[in-house]
Amino acid sequence: MLLISLSIFMLSLSTNTLADTSAFIEQFINNHIERKYDDQVELIEQNSEQIAAAVDALVAEAMKDGIIFEQRMRLLDYASSIAYMHSYWNGDKAPLKVIEPLIKSELAIEEKRVAKIMKWKKEERNIGNFVLKANPEKTEDAGLAPVLYPHWMHRIMFECKVCHDSIFQMKRWTNDITQEKIVAGKQCGVCHDGEMAFSAEEKCERCHMAGLPAAEKLHNPAKMDQMQLAKSALAVGAKWNPERLPDGKMPLDKFKFIDWLKLKELDVFKPLSSLDKDAKNETRDNVIRFVSKSSFLDDVLFGHKVHADWIDCSSCHPALFSDELGGTKIKMTEMSKGRFCGNCHGKVSFTFADCKRCHNTPKTVIVEGALERHPTKH
Ligand code: HEC
Ligand code: HEC
Ligand code: HEC
Ligand code: HEC
Ligand code: HEC
Ligand code: HEC
Repeated sequence: MLLISLSIFMLSLSTNTLADTSAFIEQFINNHIERKYDDQVELIEQNSEQIAAAVDALVAEAMKDGIIFEQRMRLLDYASSIAYMHSYWNGDKAPLKVIEPLIKSELAIEEKRVAKIMKWKKEERNIGNFVLKANPEKTEDAGLAPVLYPHWMHRIMFECKVCHDSIFQMKRWTNDITQEKIVAGKQCGVCHDGEMAFSAEEKCERCHMAGLPAAEKLHNPAKMDQMQLAKSALAVGAKWNPERLPDGKMPLDKFKFIDWLKLKELDVFKPLSSLDKDAKNETRDNVIRFVSKSSFLDDVLFGHKVHADWIDCSSCHPALFSDELGGTKIKMTEMSKGRFCGNCHGKVSFTFADCKRCHNTPKTVIVEGALERHPTKH
């Protein structure tokens, strides 16, 4: 990486600047890489008249468009070392005065950029909101904020199978969502057509609201207009009964994720299972016991029903798992990277840290009728 970017730098430099300056910089960088400290002192002392030009050349190169932050900072670092040594050994502070404010301002710009990334992370914090911003420049040019997609709120109204995988793939950034397709009645536009849900051709800021104060209600269910949500749910054929919420609050697990199964158990919500009234609702009602290798680790009991009631078979088979018992080699390490169970758990469903929610069945407990899956040998 260093060598590649350096040689690009040398190439472009040799065409625009004095050969001597360029030779000086090359020597300086070589000494620097090889840590030849004494040679460096000598070089700076003997080429005092080259310094200002060398610093200017490095700055010009660093400030070119299209250079990434790390490359820019490396070039500015070289310029700064040259200027600093020059001030120390030759007593001339002028080049240092050029470079120091520049480094400061670049760091400030970078800090803002990082803060912006962190801000979107914050927008996604608790309960399952996604900031959709595949085309950030285009939305910015239109004077709009990025889209805040409340995945959790849609889950209240619709089972997973309504959207996955017929409307959206179950993986972020893979759907190439655009305004044009939405307005043409695809993607979000399947519903946001002005009939089933508010139209995507008006009230732009009802979707484009990430980071705006109006988005607060989507982060904090306490600020939701519960009656409005109940009305919306009813209008699509779903149910939301906020009066059944325990203490009027969303139940959260100990990791602060919405406890969906608690909501289901209390009959707080009933999502619509299909946009097509005649669709038959397929499910599968059995349990698979993943017998763990270790005597210290409890077995995992996987309920087909709790999954297949909401999720399409095709979201899991064959995309994530074979539909033959024992057909899939599942590894915890792969899971924590978002494969297998980790495709959903840790993303839209409870987190991995919650070991006991999956490793839920001690060896001594017998589960009638469970299909047993023994540890894969490999
Ligand atoms: C109203 C539509 C809708 C419903 C209902 C819905 N999703 Fe999604 N889901 C989306 C959209 C949109 C995305 C983001 C896609 C993108 O970024 O391209 C998404 C993304 C995901 C992802 C990817 C997460 C990641 O980090 O990569 C998973 C997993 C997922 N959904 C699972 C579910 C599950 C499980 C359910 C039901 C409990 C569900 N979804 C219900 C629309 C929906
Ligand atoms: C399966 C249907 C469906 C799909 C697909 C869908 N939505 Fe929705 N969405 C709804 C319904 C119904 C509401 C409730 C609001 C209403 O009644 O107009 C809603 C509400 C919202 C809200 C809440 C706005 C508010 O002011 O409370 C946002 C934001 C939103 N949708 C964005 C999106 C985005 C972005 C997409 C695509 C990535 C999308 N939706 C896909 C049906 C859908
Ligand atoms: C139902 C939600 C919704 C509404 C309402 C909505 N948009 Fe969008 N819009 C989206 C989504 C989702 C994207 C894709 C965001 C991304 O990943 O960059 C998008 C993207 C865009 C983009 C970026 C270019 C592109 O096509 O990806 C522009 C520009 C845009 N919208 C303009 C508008 C305008 C103008 C309005 C109001 C007339 C509006 N949007 C209303 C959901 C919405
Ligand atoms: C959340 C993911 C998920 C969903 C949704 C799901 N399955 Fe499975 N299924 C699994 C896993 C995990 C296994 C075990 C695979 C293994 O042992 O390699 C499995 C195993 C199976 C098996 C073999 C064991 C058995 O139960 O007889 C069949 C058949 C099967 N699934 C059918 C279905 C059908 C039909 C649906 C939809 C109604 C469905 N599955 C929905 C995850 C899922
Ligand atoms: C396609 C998405 C998806 C996949 C893949 C998936 N799950 Fe789930 N799982 C869910 C959803 C959604 C729920 C309902 C609870 C929730 O939303 O947090 C759930 C619930 C559970 C529960 C019930 C927890 C309880 O408190 O009763 C267990 C256990 C579980 N999953 C284990 C697994 C295991 C083990 C695997 C892999 C073999 C797996 N899941 C794969 C989406 C998924
Ligand atoms: C979403 C469900 C889920 C959660 C949460 C989960 N596990 Fe697992 N884990 C599994 C499944 C399923 C297997 C079985 C894989 C097999 O035998 O094929 C497994 C297997 C394992 C194994 C056996 C070795 C291996 O790589 O297969 C270890 C060790 C393990 N889990 C530790 C943990 C620990 C520690 C945690 C909590 C930090 C945890 N698991 C959380 C589902 C889960």
